[in-house]
Amino acid sequence: MSTRVVVTGLGALTPLGKTVAESWAALLAGKSGIRPIGELANAESYERHCPPSLAVADVKEFDPHAYGNLFTSQDLRRMSQFTQFAVVAAQEALRDANLIETLQKGRNDRVGCVIGSGIASVHDMYDSIVEFDRGKRLSPSFVPKILSNMACGNVSIKFQLRGVSHCVSTACATGNNAIGDAYNFIRLGYNDVCLAGASEASVHPLALAGFLRAKSITPSGISRPFDKERNGFVLGEGAGLLVLESLKHAQDRGARIYAEVEGYGLTSDAHHITSPSENGDGARRAMEMALNNQTRSQVDYVNAHATSTVLGDRAEAQAISNILSGDGKDAIKVSSNKGAIGHLLGAAGAVESIFTIKSLQDGVVPHTLNLHSVGGASGDEAENFERLDLVRGAPAKHDIRRALNNSFGFGGINSSIVFRRWEV
Ligand SMILES: *[C@@H]1O[C@H](CO)[C@@H](O)[C@H](O)[C@H]1NC(C)=O
Ligand SMILES: *[C@@H]1O[C@H](CO)[C@@H](O)[C@H](O)[C@H]1NC(C)=O
Ligand SMILES: *[C@@H]1O[C@H](CO)[C@@H](O)[C@H](O)[C@H]1NC(C)=O
Ligand SMILES: *[C@@H]1O[C@H](CO)[C@@H](O)[C@H](O)[C@H]1NC(C)=O
Repeated sequence: MSTRVVVTGLGALTPLGKTVAESWAALLAGKSGIRPIGELANAESYERHCPPSLAVADVKEFDPHAYGNLFTSQDLRRMSQFTQFAVVAAQEALRDANLIETLQKGRNDRVGCVIGSGIASVHDMYDSIVEFDRGKRLSPSFVPKILSNMACGNVSIKFQLRGVSHCVSTACATGNNAIGDAYNFIRLGYNDVCLAGASEASVHPLALAGFLRAKSITPSGISRPFDKERNGFVLGEGAGLLVLESLKHAQDRGARIYAEVEGYGLTSDAHHITSPSENGDGARRAMEMALNNQTRSQVDYVNAHATSTVLGDRAEAQAISNILSGDGKDAIKVSSNKGAIGHLLGAAGAVESIFTIKSLQDGVVPHTLNLHSVGGASGDEAENFERLDLVRGAPAKHDIRRALNNSFGFGGINSSIVFRRWEV
């Protein structure tokens, strides 16, 4: 019998709120975390390189001083913003799992940490290059601040997590892969508990201009997954962390269990760095790997990766419809959180996994914002969209036992995780 793995704690900092509860309530209320670049404090540095119609989904009014003594002033000088985001989400997740005191007692050798980031600190990289070019001395913190694994390093030190320490960087699949790796580490017996997820502080003029040049960003400033008018994503940022734990460890300490992680799949399209294979082949195989014959017929909901790009949403709709719909079954419920929070890059998987778990727990599917006319972009095959029950307009009450969460990334990564509602 292989080790079963459950989720016992959640923490998030998102464009919609500073905690999981705040973000989830705003998502169900249909609020949007997206705003035009003209409303940002440094609007002119964005507008120098990008048209004013662009929008971003930033973490609003982040104030590290609002967290009591979580950060010393030295920490703030030495930790880049994606690391600060991760420390805040880590504290919420560990508290939620009721683990802070246990950790303070020093029982930490089998508590691991897997935190990824897609692009780590664009802020420090940019500022340091500009100053370096002007002949200024570099800060001794420059190198450690820009390393992708430093969120994991700093969180481990802060909370004394002394088991596995690992960083994943697989573009927009990062959060999913961090959760998947942590799941496997626990199954292999490396750890009993593992904090897992991702952090991204990606709202920066350089990143926005870069994604614009890569033609990934929507010029409209509106994120509309699965909609006819979709034409690119909205750049977002934030952090999401989950406490994963072996079922036995969780039960022995009487932990509250949110969900079980039931399967994990990871494949490559091996097709193109940024475009999906047309029939969604990599995604289909990732979903198949995460499911088995029994669970495949019992998926009640898919939290789609759907970022609001023409090709990505089409390929995903096709892959979902190929493996989960048809044969007289009711159309499967599908939604994407990206209409409301944009695309959190590496952190997308982690934050949306948290929302998926909230869906299982509360029996409600959040609707996809800005989805007015389904599908229909040139080249879309209408039936692939019609076979999905795309939730729009308002959240849908739905008894969900098993949910599948997809995440895909530049480089050809396709990944998928299955969560099952915990029933005692
Ligand atoms: C966090 O990491 C930085 C290096 O980026 C290091 O200088 C600092 O001491 C670390 N602080 C903590 C609390 O881990
Ligand atoms: C799953 O179903 C297929 C086709 O029905 C069958 O060939 C395969 O052996 C099954 N796999 C498992 C693990 O049961
Ligand atoms: C959950 O779905 C979102 C949608 O993009 C995705 O980004 C995220 O990686 C998924 N998480 C898991 C664990 O599958
Ligand atoms: C698989 O991953 C690639 C990464 O390049 C992504 O572009 C593609 O959309 C994913 N597949 C599907 C069907 O979405």
